[in-house]
Amino acid sequence: MAQAHPQSAKRRAGIFRTKSIEESLAETTESEYSLKKRLTALDLTVFGVGVIIGAGIFTLTGRAAATVAGPAVLISFIIAAVCCGLAALCYAEFASTVPVSGSAYTFSYATLGEFVAWIIGWDLLLELMLGSSVVAQGWSAYAGVFLGHLGIEIPKSVAYGSSFDLPAFLLVAVLTALVCYGIKESLRVNLVLVGLKLFVVLFVIFAGIGYINTANYTPFIPPAVPASTTGGSIWTAPLVETMFGMAPSAFGVGGVLAGASLVFFAYIGFDVVATTAEEAKNPQRDLPIGIIASLVICTILYCAVTLVITGMIPYQEISTEASLATAFEHVGRPEFATIISAGAVAGLTTVVMTLLIGATRVTFAMSRDWLLPASLGTTNPRTGTPIKLTLIIGTTVAFIAAFTPVGKLEEMVNIGTLAAFTLVSIAVPILRRNRPDLKRSFQVPGSPFVPWLAAAVAFYLMLTLPLETWVRFIAWMVLGLIIYFVYGMRRSRLAVGAHDIPAPDYSAH
Ligand code: ALA
Repeated sequence: MAQAHPQSAKRRAGIFRTKSIEESLAETTESEYSLKKRLTALDLTVFGVGVIIGAGIFTLTGRAAATVAGPAVLISFIIAAVCCGLAALCYAEFASTVPVSGSAYTFSYATLGEFVAWIIGWDLLLELMLGSSVVAQGWSAYAGVFLGHLGIEIPKSVAYGSSFDLPAFLLVAVLTALVCYGIKESLRVNLVLVGLKLFVVLFVIFAGIGYINTANYTPFIPPAVPASTTGGSIWTAPLVETMFGMAPSAFGVGGVLAGASLVFFAYIGFDVVATTAEEAKNPQRDLPIGIIASLVICTILYCAVTLVITGMIPYQEISTEASLATAFEHVGRPEFATIISAGAVAGLTTVVMTLLIGATRVTFAMSRDWLLPASLGTTNPRTGTPIKLTLIIGTTVAFIAAFTPVGKLEEMVNIGTLAAFTLVSIAVPILRRNRPDLKRSFQVPGSPFVPWLAAAVAFYLMLTLPLETWVRFIAWMVLGLIIYFVYGMRRSRLAVGAHDIPAPDYSAH
Protein backbone atom coordinates (compact mmCIF):
# COMPACT_ATOMS: atom_id res chain seq x y z
CA MET A 1 0.00 0.00 0.00
CA ALA A 2 1.30 3.46 -0.85
CA GLN A 3 2.40 5.54 2.13
CA ALA A 4 0.42 8.65 2.91
CA HIS A 5 2.32 11.83 2.18
CA PRO A 6 2.88 14.40 4.95
CA GLN A 7 0.13 16.72 3.77
CA SER A 8 -2.48 13.98 3.89
CA ALA A 9 -1.21 12.92 7.31
CA LYS A 10 -1.93 16.44 8.46
CA ARG A 11 -5.39 16.34 6.90
CA ARG A 12 -6.16 13.05 8.63
CA ALA A 13 -5.84 14.75 11.96
CA GLY A 14 -9.44 15.90 12.02
CA ILE A 15 -12.96 15.38 10.85
CA PHE A 16 -12.62 18.59 8.86
CA ARG A 17 -10.07 17.01 6.51
CA THR A 18 -10.88 17.94 2.92
CA LYS A 19 -10.53 15.89 -0.20
CA SER A 20 -8.83 17.89 -2.94
CA ILE A 21 -10.75 18.52 -6.12
CA GLU A 22 -7.95 16.89 -8.10
CA GLU A 23 -8.39 13.72 -6.02
CA SER A 24 -12.12 13.71 -6.69
CA LEU A 25 -11.58 14.13 -10.41
CA ALA A 26 -8.83 11.49 -10.53
CA GLU A 27 -11.04 8.86 -8.89
CA THR A 28 -13.67 9.18 -11.58
CA THR A 29 -11.22 7.59 -14.03
CA GLU A 30 -10.71 4.46 -11.92
CA SER A 31 -12.33 1.81 -14.05
CA GLU A 32 -14.30 0.04 -11.30
CA TYR A 33 -15.89 3.32 -10.31
CA SER A 34 -16.29 5.10 -13.59
CA LEU A 35 -19.64 6.10 -15.03
CA LYS A 36 -20.13 6.61 -18.78
CA LYS A 37 -19.99 10.22 -19.97
CA ARG A 38 -22.77 10.61 -22.47
CA LEU A 39 -25.35 13.21 -21.35
CA THR A 40 -25.79 16.51 -23.23
CA ALA A 41 -27.19 19.90 -22.08
CA LEU A 42 -30.57 18.96 -23.53
CA ASP A 43 -30.50 15.57 -21.73
CA LEU A 44 -29.74 17.38 -18.48
CA THR A 45 -32.55 19.91 -18.96
CA VAL A 46 -35.00 17.12 -19.76
CA PHE A 47 -33.68 15.24 -16.76
CA GLY A 48 -34.24 18.37 -14.62
CA VAL A 49 -37.77 19.11 -15.85
CA GLY A 50 -38.47 15.38 -15.57
CA VAL A 51 -37.72 15.34 -11.88
CA ILE A 52 -38.92 18.82 -10.90
CA ILE A 53 -42.51 18.69 -12.15
CA GLY A 54 -44.23 16.04 -10.05
CA ALA A 55 -46.30 15.46 -6.97
CA GLY A 56 -45.62 19.06 -5.89
CA ILE A 57 -47.69 20.74 -8.57
CA PHE A 58 -50.12 17.84 -8.96
CA THR A 59 -51.07 17.53 -5.28
CA LEU A 60 -49.38 20.03 -2.94
CA THR A 61 -50.72 23.13 -4.74
CA GLY A 62 -54.18 22.16 -3.60
CA ARG A 63 -53.14 21.31 -0.07
CA ALA A 64 -51.20 24.57 0.39
CA ALA A 65 -54.04 26.69 -1.03
CA ALA A 66 -56.78 24.98 0.96
CA THR A 67 -54.99 24.70 4.31
CA VAL A 68 -52.45 27.52 4.71
CA ALA A 69 -52.22 30.14 1.97
CA GLY A 70 -55.41 30.53 -0.09
CA PRO A 71 -54.95 32.11 -3.55
CA ALA A 72 -51.72 33.63 -2.22
CA VAL A 73 -50.17 30.20 -2.76
CA LEU A 74 -48.98 31.98 -5.92
CA ILE A 75 -46.74 34.12 -3.69
CA SER A 76 -45.65 30.95 -1.85
CA PHE A 77 -44.55 29.49 -5.20
CA ILE A 78 -42.65 32.68 -6.04
CA ILE A 79 -40.88 32.76 -2.65
CA ALA A 80 -39.89 29.09 -3.04
CA ALA A 81 -38.69 29.82 -6.59
CA VAL A 82 -36.50 32.69 -5.34
CA CYS A 83 -35.01 30.39 -2.70
CA CYS A 84 -34.31 27.70 -5.30
CA GLY A 85 -33.04 30.20 -7.88
CA LEU A 86 -30.47 31.55 -5.43
CA ALA A 87 -29.42 28.03 -4.46
CA ALA A 88 -29.37 27.01 -8.14
CA LEU A 89 -26.75 29.67 -8.85
CA CYS A 90 -24.59 28.20 -6.07
CA TYR A 91 -25.15 24.64 -7.28
CA ALA A 92 -24.30 25.69 -10.83
CA GLU A 93 -21.01 27.28 -9.77
CA PHE A 94 -20.04 24.18 -7.81
CA ALA A 95 -21.13 21.75 -10.48
CA SER A 96 -19.12 23.61 -13.09
CA THR A 97 -16.06 23.56 -10.84
CA VAL A 98 -16.23 20.06 -9.37
CA PRO A 99 -17.91 17.93 -12.05
CA VAL A 100 -17.95 14.68 -10.11
CA SER A 101 -20.84 12.43 -9.15
CA GLY A 102 -22.48 13.08 -5.79
CA SER A 103 -23.65 16.67 -6.03
CA ALA A 104 -23.47 18.84 -2.95
CA TYR A 105 -21.83 16.02 -1.08
CA THR A 106 -18.78 16.14 -3.33
CA PHE A 107 -18.66 19.93 -3.40
CA SER A 108 -18.58 20.11 0.34
CA TYR A 109 -15.98 17.35 0.69
CA ALA A 110 -13.64 19.60 -1.25
CA THR A 111 -14.43 22.69 0.81
CA LEU A 112 -16.02 22.26 4.21
CA GLY A 113 -14.44 18.92 5.05
CA GLU A 114 -15.44 15.30 5.49
CA PHE A 115 -17.78 15.79 8.42
CA VAL A 116 -19.91 18.47 6.76
CA ALA A 117 -19.82 16.47 3.51
CA TRP A 118 -21.21 13.46 5.33
CA ILE A 119 -23.96 15.58 6.86
CA ILE A 120 -24.90 17.01 3.47
CA GLY A 121 -24.81 13.56 1.88
CA TRP A 122 -27.03 12.23 4.66
CA ASP A 123 -29.43 15.17 4.07
CA LEU A 124 -29.51 14.44 0.37
CA LEU A 125 -30.27 10.82 1.02
CA LEU A 126 -33.26 11.90 3.08
CA GLU A 127 -34.39 14.21 0.30
CA LEU A 128 -34.01 11.69 -2.49
CA MET A 129 -35.23 8.50 -0.86
CA LEU A 130 -38.22 10.00 0.92
CA GLY A 131 -38.90 12.24 -2.09
CA SER A 132 -39.23 9.27 -4.40
CA SER A 133 -41.45 7.54 -1.83
CA VAL A 134 -43.78 10.58 -1.65
CA VAL A 135 -44.05 10.78 -5.41
CA ALA A 136 -44.65 7.03 -5.69
CA GLN A 137 -47.57 7.45 -3.30
CA GLY A 138 -48.91 10.36 -5.37
CA TRP A 139 -48.55 8.19 -8.47
CA SER A 140 -50.57 5.49 -6.78
CA ALA A 141 -53.35 8.00 -5.98
CA TYR A 142 -53.60 9.18 -9.59
CA ALA A 143 -53.29 5.61 -10.91
CA GLY A 144 -56.25 4.66 -8.72
CA VAL A 145 -58.32 7.57 -10.09
CA PHE A 146 -57.34 6.81 -13.68
CA LEU A 147 -58.05 3.08 -13.43
CA GLY A 148 -61.34 3.90 -11.70
CA HIS A 149 -62.33 5.97 -14.76
CA LEU A 150 -61.59 2.89 -16.88
CA GLY A 151 -63.80 0.80 -14.63
CA ILE A 152 -60.94 -1.06 -12.94
CA GLU A 153 -60.99 -0.96 -9.13
CA ILE A 154 -57.83 -1.70 -7.13
CA PRO A 155 -58.80 -3.74 -4.00
CA LYS A 156 -59.08 -1.26 -1.11
CA SER A 157 -56.81 -3.33 1.13
CA VAL A 158 -53.80 -2.71 -1.17
CA ALA A 159 -54.75 0.63 -2.76
CA TYR A 160 -53.47 4.18 -2.16
CA GLY A 161 -53.95 5.18 1.47
CA SER A 162 -54.20 1.57 2.73
CA SER A 163 -51.70 -0.02 5.10
CA PHE A 164 -49.81 -1.53 2.14
CA ASP A 165 -49.79 0.58 -1.03
CA LEU A 166 -49.22 -2.11 -3.65
CA PRO A 167 -49.21 0.14 -6.78
CA ALA A 168 -46.51 2.36 -5.24
CA PHE A 169 -44.48 -0.72 -4.31
CA LEU A 170 -44.70 -2.23 -7.80
CA LEU A 171 -43.84 1.08 -9.48
CA VAL A 172 -40.62 1.46 -7.49
CA ALA A 173 -39.69 -2.18 -8.16
CA VAL A 174 -40.04 -1.79 -11.95
CA LEU A 175 -38.18 1.53 -12.00
CA THR A 176 -35.35 0.09 -9.93
CA ALA A 177 -34.88 -2.59 -12.59
CA LEU A 178 -34.78 0.10 -15.31
CA VAL A 179 -32.20 2.13 -13.43
CA CYS A 180 -30.04 -0.97 -12.96
CA TYR A 181 -30.19 -1.53 -16.70
CA GLY A 182 -28.52 1.82 -17.49
CA ILE A 183 -29.03 5.56 -17.17
CA LYS A 184 -29.14 6.39 -20.88
CA GLU A 185 -31.85 3.84 -21.48
CA SER A 186 -33.72 5.24 -18.50
CA LEU A 187 -33.42 8.75 -19.88
CA ARG A 188 -34.88 7.68 -23.20
CA VAL A 189 -37.99 6.47 -21.39
CA ASN A 190 -37.84 9.69 -19.41
CA LEU A 191 -37.96 11.81 -22.57
CA VAL A 192 -41.29 10.36 -23.67
CA LEU A 193 -42.81 10.64 -20.20
CA VAL A 194 -41.57 14.21 -19.70
CA GLY A 195 -43.21 15.16 -23.01
CA LEU A 196 -46.52 13.75 -21.80
CA LYS A 197 -46.21 15.54 -18.48
CA LEU A 198 -45.53 18.90 -20.11
CA PHE A 199 -48.54 18.34 -22.34
CA VAL A 200 -50.76 17.77 -19.29
CA VAL A 201 -49.47 20.82 -17.44
CA LEU A 202 -50.07 23.00 -20.51
CA PHE A 203 -53.46 21.35 -20.92
CA VAL A 204 -54.43 22.35 -17.38
CA ILE A 205 -53.36 25.93 -18.07
CA PHE A 206 -55.08 26.38 -21.43
CA ALA A 207 -58.20 24.32 -20.69
CA GLY A 208 -58.62 26.01 -17.31
CA ILE A 209 -58.13 29.65 -18.33
CA GLY A 210 -61.70 29.96 -19.60
CA TYR A 211 -63.12 28.81 -16.25
CA ILE A 212 -61.36 31.44 -14.12
CA ASN A 213 -63.68 33.51 -11.97
CA THR A 214 -61.68 36.48 -10.72
CA ALA A 215 -63.92 36.73 -7.64
CA ASN A 216 -62.10 33.63 -6.36
CA TYR A 217 -58.90 35.69 -6.00
CA THR A 218 -60.53 37.74 -3.20
CA PRO A 219 -59.36 37.70 -0.47
CA PHE A 220 -55.99 37.03 -2.06
CA ILE A 221 -54.30 36.53 1.32
CA PRO A 222 -57.04 35.14 3.59
CA PRO A 223 -56.92 36.63 7.11
CA ALA A 224 -55.03 34.60 9.73
CA VAL A 225 -57.11 32.22 11.87
CA PRO A 226 -56.06 30.28 15.01
CA ALA A 227 -54.54 26.92 14.03
CA SER A 228 -56.89 25.13 16.41
CA THR A 229 -59.78 26.00 14.08
CA THR A 230 -58.04 24.19 11.19
CA GLY A 231 -57.01 21.15 13.23
CA GLY A 232 -53.43 22.35 13.89
CA SER A 233 -51.41 22.50 17.12
CA ILE A 234 -48.05 23.66 18.39
CA TRP A 235 -46.51 20.56 16.74
CA THR A 236 -47.83 21.41 13.33
CA ALA A 237 -47.39 25.21 13.49
CA PRO A 238 -44.26 26.80 11.96
CA LEU A 239 -41.28 26.59 14.32
CA VAL A 240 -40.68 30.32 13.96
CA GLU A 241 -44.13 31.02 15.47
CA THR A 242 -43.42 28.71 18.40
CA MET A 243 -39.96 30.27 18.93
CA PHE A 244 -41.39 33.77 19.19
CA GLY A 245 -44.25 32.71 21.41
CA MET A 246 -46.88 33.49 18.76
CA ALA A 247 -50.16 31.59 18.85
CA PRO A 248 -50.16 28.94 16.10
CA SER A 249 -52.17 30.19 13.12
CA ALA A 250 -53.12 29.34 9.56
CA PHE A 251 -53.44 31.69 6.57
CA GLY A 252 -52.35 35.35 6.77
CA VAL A 253 -48.78 36.31 5.88
CA GLY A 254 -47.43 33.50 8.07
CA GLY A 255 -49.53 31.08 6.05
CA VAL A 256 -48.01 32.33 2.80
CA LEU A 257 -44.52 31.61 4.20
CA ALA A 258 -45.57 28.22 5.55
CA GLY A 259 -47.03 27.56 2.11
CA ALA A 260 -43.66 28.40 0.57
CA SER A 261 -41.89 25.84 2.73
CA LEU A 262 -44.49 23.24 1.69
CA VAL A 263 -44.65 23.91 -2.07
CA PHE A 264 -40.87 24.08 -2.05
CA PHE A 265 -41.23 20.34 -2.65
CA ALA A 266 -42.44 21.14 -6.16
CA TYR A 267 -39.02 22.55 -7.10
CA ILE A 268 -36.91 19.80 -5.65
CA GLY A 269 -34.93 18.04 -8.28
CA PHE A 270 -32.91 20.70 -10.06
CA ASP A 271 -30.12 19.92 -7.63
CA VAL A 272 -30.35 16.29 -8.73
CA VAL A 273 -29.09 17.39 -12.14
CA ALA A 274 -25.81 18.13 -10.40
CA THR A 275 -25.61 14.54 -9.17
CA THR A 276 -25.13 13.37 -12.75
CA ALA A 277 -22.16 15.66 -13.32
CA GLU A 278 -19.84 12.78 -13.97
CA GLU A 279 -22.04 11.45 -16.74
CA ALA A 280 -22.23 14.76 -18.64
CA LYS A 281 -20.21 15.10 -21.82
CA ASN A 282 -19.24 18.70 -21.13
CA PRO A 283 -20.18 19.31 -17.49
CA GLN A 284 -18.69 22.77 -17.13
CA ARG A 285 -20.89 24.25 -19.82
CA ASP A 286 -23.87 21.93 -19.75
CA LEU A 287 -24.55 21.60 -16.01
CA PRO A 288 -25.26 25.27 -15.35
CA ILE A 289 -27.48 25.31 -18.45
CA GLY A 290 -29.34 22.18 -17.33
CA ILE A 291 -29.87 23.37 -13.76
CA ILE A 292 -30.96 26.93 -14.48
CA ALA A 293 -33.02 26.19 -17.61
CA SER A 294 -35.06 23.48 -15.92
CA LEU A 295 -35.75 25.69 -12.91
CA VAL A 296 -36.90 28.66 -15.03
CA ILE A 297 -39.21 26.51 -17.17
CA CYS A 298 -40.84 24.98 -14.09
CA THR A 299 -41.32 28.28 -12.26
CA ILE A 300 -43.21 29.77 -15.19
CA LEU A 301 -45.44 26.69 -15.51
CA TYR A 302 -46.15 26.51 -11.76
CA CYS A 303 -47.21 30.13 -11.49
CA ALA A 304 -49.56 29.68 -14.45
CA VAL A 305 -51.10 26.48 -13.05
CA THR A 306 -51.54 28.06 -9.61
CA LEU A 307 -53.31 31.11 -11.03
CA VAL A 308 -55.64 28.89 -13.05
CA ILE A 309 -56.56 26.49 -10.24
CA THR A 310 -57.14 29.12 -7.57
CA GLY A 311 -59.15 31.10 -10.12
CA MET A 312 -61.33 28.11 -11.04
CA ILE A 313 -62.44 27.17 -7.52
CA PRO A 314 -62.78 29.00 -4.16
CA TYR A 315 -59.64 28.02 -2.24
CA GLN A 316 -61.60 26.32 0.57
CA GLU A 317 -63.05 23.86 -1.94
CA ILE A 318 -59.81 22.82 -3.68
CA SER A 319 -59.09 19.11 -3.20
CA THR A 320 -56.00 18.36 -1.12
CA GLU A 321 -55.22 15.17 -3.04
CA ALA A 322 -55.82 15.27 -6.77
CA SER A 323 -56.32 19.02 -7.07
CA LEU A 324 -55.65 19.46 -10.77
CA ALA A 325 -58.00 16.71 -11.89
CA THR A 326 -60.83 17.51 -9.47
CA ALA A 327 -60.78 21.19 -10.41
CA PHE A 328 -62.15 20.15 -13.78
CA GLU A 329 -64.76 17.88 -12.23
CA HIS A 330 -65.81 20.95 -10.24
CA VAL A 331 -66.48 22.93 -13.42
CA GLY A 332 -68.32 20.02 -15.05
CA ARG A 333 -65.56 18.59 -17.28
CA PRO A 334 -64.88 15.06 -15.92
CA GLU A 335 -63.38 13.95 -19.25
CA PHE A 336 -60.62 16.51 -18.76
CA ALA A 337 -60.03 15.01 -15.31
CA THR A 338 -59.42 11.62 -16.98
CA ILE A 339 -56.81 13.09 -19.33
CA ILE A 340 -55.09 14.87 -16.46
CA SER A 341 -54.94 11.79 -14.24
CA ALA A 342 -53.49 9.76 -17.13
CA GLY A 343 -50.83 12.42 -17.66
CA ALA A 344 -50.08 12.56 -13.95
CA VAL A 345 -49.48 8.81 -13.92
CA ALA A 346 -46.96 9.18 -16.73
CA GLY A 347 -45.43 12.35 -15.30
CA LEU A 348 -44.95 11.14 -11.75
CA THR A 349 -43.21 8.01 -13.04
CA THR A 350 -40.25 10.03 -14.32
CA VAL A 351 -39.93 11.84 -11.00
CA VAL A 352 -39.72 8.66 -8.96
CA MET A 353 -37.11 7.29 -11.33
CA THR A 354 -34.96 10.40 -11.37
CA LEU A 355 -34.98 10.71 -7.59
CA LEU A 356 -33.99 7.05 -7.36
CA ILE A 357 -31.07 7.70 -9.70
CA GLY A 358 -30.03 10.68 -7.57
CA ALA A 359 -30.12 8.65 -4.35
CA THR A 360 -28.00 5.95 -5.94
CA ARG A 361 -25.46 8.47 -7.17
CA VAL A 362 -25.05 10.15 -3.78
CA THR A 363 -24.49 6.85 -1.97
CA PHE A 364 -22.23 5.80 -4.85
CA ALA A 365 -20.00 8.81 -4.19
CA MET A 366 -20.01 8.09 -0.45
CA SER A 367 -18.98 4.49 -0.90
CA ARG A 368 -16.26 5.52 -3.33
CA ASP A 369 -14.86 7.60 -0.49
CA TRP A 370 -15.25 4.59 1.83
CA LEU A 371 -17.58 6.54 4.13
CA LEU A 372 -19.91 3.64 3.38
CA PRO A 373 -18.59 0.13 2.65
CA ALA A 374 -16.55 0.37 -0.55
CA SER A 375 -17.79 -2.89 -2.02
CA LEU A 376 -21.29 -1.40 -2.36
CA GLY A 377 -20.22 1.16 -4.93
CA THR A 378 -18.57 -0.88 -7.65
CA THR A 379 -20.14 -0.47 -11.07
CA ASN A 380 -21.14 -3.33 -13.29
CA PRO A 381 -18.77 -3.38 -16.30
CA ARG A 382 -21.56 -4.10 -18.77
CA THR A 383 -24.23 -1.60 -17.71
CA GLY A 384 -21.88 0.99 -16.18
CA THR A 385 -24.27 1.37 -13.24
CA PRO A 386 -23.79 0.57 -9.53
CA ILE A 387 -26.25 -2.34 -9.45
CA LYS A 388 -25.82 -3.41 -5.83
CA LEU A 389 -26.47 0.08 -4.48
CA THR A 390 -29.40 0.60 -6.82
CA LEU A 391 -31.05 -2.57 -5.56
CA ILE A 392 -30.55 -1.63 -1.91
CA ILE A 393 -31.94 1.89 -2.40
CA GLY A 394 -34.80 0.74 -4.63
CA THR A 395 -35.93 -1.88 -2.12
CA THR A 396 -35.81 0.59 0.76
CA VAL A 397 -37.82 3.19 -1.16
CA ALA A 398 -40.38 0.58 -2.23
CA PHE A 399 -41.04 -0.40 1.38
CA ILE A 400 -41.15 3.20 2.66
CA ALA A 401 -43.61 4.15 -0.10
CA ALA A 402 -45.78 1.11 0.59
CA PHE A 403 -45.95 1.33 4.37
CA THR A 404 -45.77 5.05 5.34
CA PRO A 405 -49.13 6.80 5.81
CA VAL A 406 -49.85 9.49 3.20
CA GLY A 407 -48.80 13.08 4.00
CA LYS A 408 -46.10 12.22 6.55
CA LEU A 409 -42.97 12.58 4.45
CA GLU A 410 -43.11 15.79 2.36
CA GLU A 411 -41.90 18.21 5.00
CA MET A 412 -39.08 15.86 5.97
CA VAL A 413 -37.93 15.94 2.36
CA ASN A 414 -38.07 19.73 2.36
CA ILE A 415 -36.14 20.23 5.57
CA GLY A 416 -33.36 17.88 4.39
CA THR A 417 -33.09 19.70 1.09
CA LEU A 418 -33.16 23.17 2.63
CA ALA A 419 -30.41 22.16 5.05
CA ALA A 420 -28.28 21.03 2.12
CA PHE A 421 -29.01 24.30 0.26
CA THR A 422 -27.91 26.32 3.27
CA LEU A 423 -24.60 24.49 3.56
CA VAL A 424 -23.90 24.52 -0.19
CA SER A 425 -24.54 28.26 -0.38
CA ILE A 426 -22.14 28.94 2.47
CA ALA A 427 -19.55 26.77 0.72
CA VAL A 428 -19.39 28.91 -2.45
CA PRO A 429 -17.45 31.85 -0.98
CA ILE A 430 -15.30 29.43 1.04
CA LEU A 431 -14.21 27.58 -2.09
CA ARG A 432 -13.54 30.87 -3.88
CA ARG A 433 -11.25 31.93 -1.06
CA ASN A 434 -9.50 28.57 -0.66
CA ARG A 435 -9.15 27.69 -4.33
CA PRO A 436 -9.16 30.87 -6.42
CA ASP A 437 -7.08 29.01 -9.03
CA LEU A 438 -9.83 26.59 -10.12
CA LYS A 439 -11.52 27.13 -13.47
CA ARG A 440 -15.15 28.17 -12.96
CA SER A 441 -17.09 28.25 -16.20
CA PHE A 442 -20.04 29.58 -14.24
CA GLN A 443 -19.79 32.07 -11.37
CA VAL A 444 -22.50 33.25 -8.98
CA PRO A 445 -22.85 37.01 -9.49
CA GLY A 446 -22.41 39.19 -6.41
CA SER A 447 -20.49 36.66 -4.26
CA PRO A 448 -20.28 36.55 -1.27
CA PHE A 449 -23.57 38.43 -0.73
CA VAL A 450 -25.74 36.38 -3.07
CA PRO A 451 -24.58 33.03 -1.59
CA TRP A 452 -25.13 34.40 1.93
CA LEU A 453 -28.60 35.58 0.95
CA ALA A 454 -29.28 32.12 -0.54
CA ALA A 455 -28.27 30.50 2.76
CA ALA A 456 -30.37 32.94 4.79
CA VAL A 457 -33.52 32.42 2.70
CA ALA A 458 -33.17 28.61 2.80
CA PHE A 459 -32.63 28.66 6.55
CA TYR A 460 -35.61 30.93 7.10
CA LEU A 461 -37.82 28.53 5.15
CA MET A 462 -36.55 25.73 7.39
CA LEU A 463 -37.77 27.76 10.36
CA THR A 464 -41.24 28.00 8.86
CA LEU A 465 -41.53 24.19 8.93
CA PRO A 466 -43.37 22.63 11.87
CA LEU A 467 -41.79 21.58 15.14
CA GLU A 468 -42.66 17.91 14.50
CA THR A 469 -40.66 18.02 11.25
CA TRP A 470 -37.67 19.44 13.13
CA VAL A 471 -37.84 16.68 15.72
CA ARG A 472 -37.90 13.96 13.05
CA PHE A 473 -35.15 15.68 11.11
CA ILE A 474 -32.94 15.88 14.19
CA ALA A 475 -33.52 12.17 14.84
CA TRP A 476 -32.42 11.37 11.27
CA MET A 477 -29.30 13.53 11.65
CA VAL A 478 -28.40 11.86 14.96
CA LEU A 479 -28.58 8.49 13.22
CA GLY A 480 -26.25 9.86 10.54
CA LEU A 481 -23.81 11.13 13.15
CA ILE A 482 -23.72 7.74 14.85
CA ILE A 483 -22.93 6.01 11.54
CA TYR A 484 -20.20 8.55 10.79
CA PHE A 485 -18.50 8.33 14.15
CA VAL A 486 -18.76 4.54 14.36
CA TYR A 487 -17.84 3.78 10.74
CA GLY A 488 -16.88 6.54 8.29
CA MET A 489 -14.61 8.59 10.50
CA ARG A 490 -12.17 5.69 10.91
CA ARG A 491 -12.59 3.96 7.59
CA SER A 492 -12.86 6.68 4.95
CA ARG A 493 -10.26 6.78 2.22
CA LEU A 494 -8.85 9.97 3.68
CA ALA A 495 -8.74 8.48 7.17
CA VAL A 496 -6.67 5.50 6.08
CA GLY A 497 -4.59 7.46 3.55
CA ALA A 498 -5.91 5.35 0.68
CA HIS A 499 -6.59 8.32 -1.58
CA ASP A 500 -3.00 7.73 -2.73
CA ILE A 501 -3.85 4.29 -4.10
CA PRO A 502 -4.46 4.72 -7.81
CA ALA A 503 -6.87 1.88 -8.73
CA PRO A 504 -8.28 -0.24 -5.93
CA ASP A 505 -9.41 -3.71 -6.89
CA TYR A 506 -12.74 -4.83 -5.45
CA SER A 507 -13.22 -7.87 -7.62
CA ALA A 508 -12.94 -10.15 -4.60
CA HIS A 509 -15.88 -8.45 -2.81
N1 ALA B 1 -40.32 18.34 -7.39
C1 ALA B 1 -40.74 17.00 -7.35
C2 ALA B 1 -42.20 16.87 -7.23
O1 ALA B 1 -42.89 17.86 -7.14
C3 ALA B 1 -40.04 16.24 -6.29
O2 ALA B 1 -42.70 15.78 -7.25
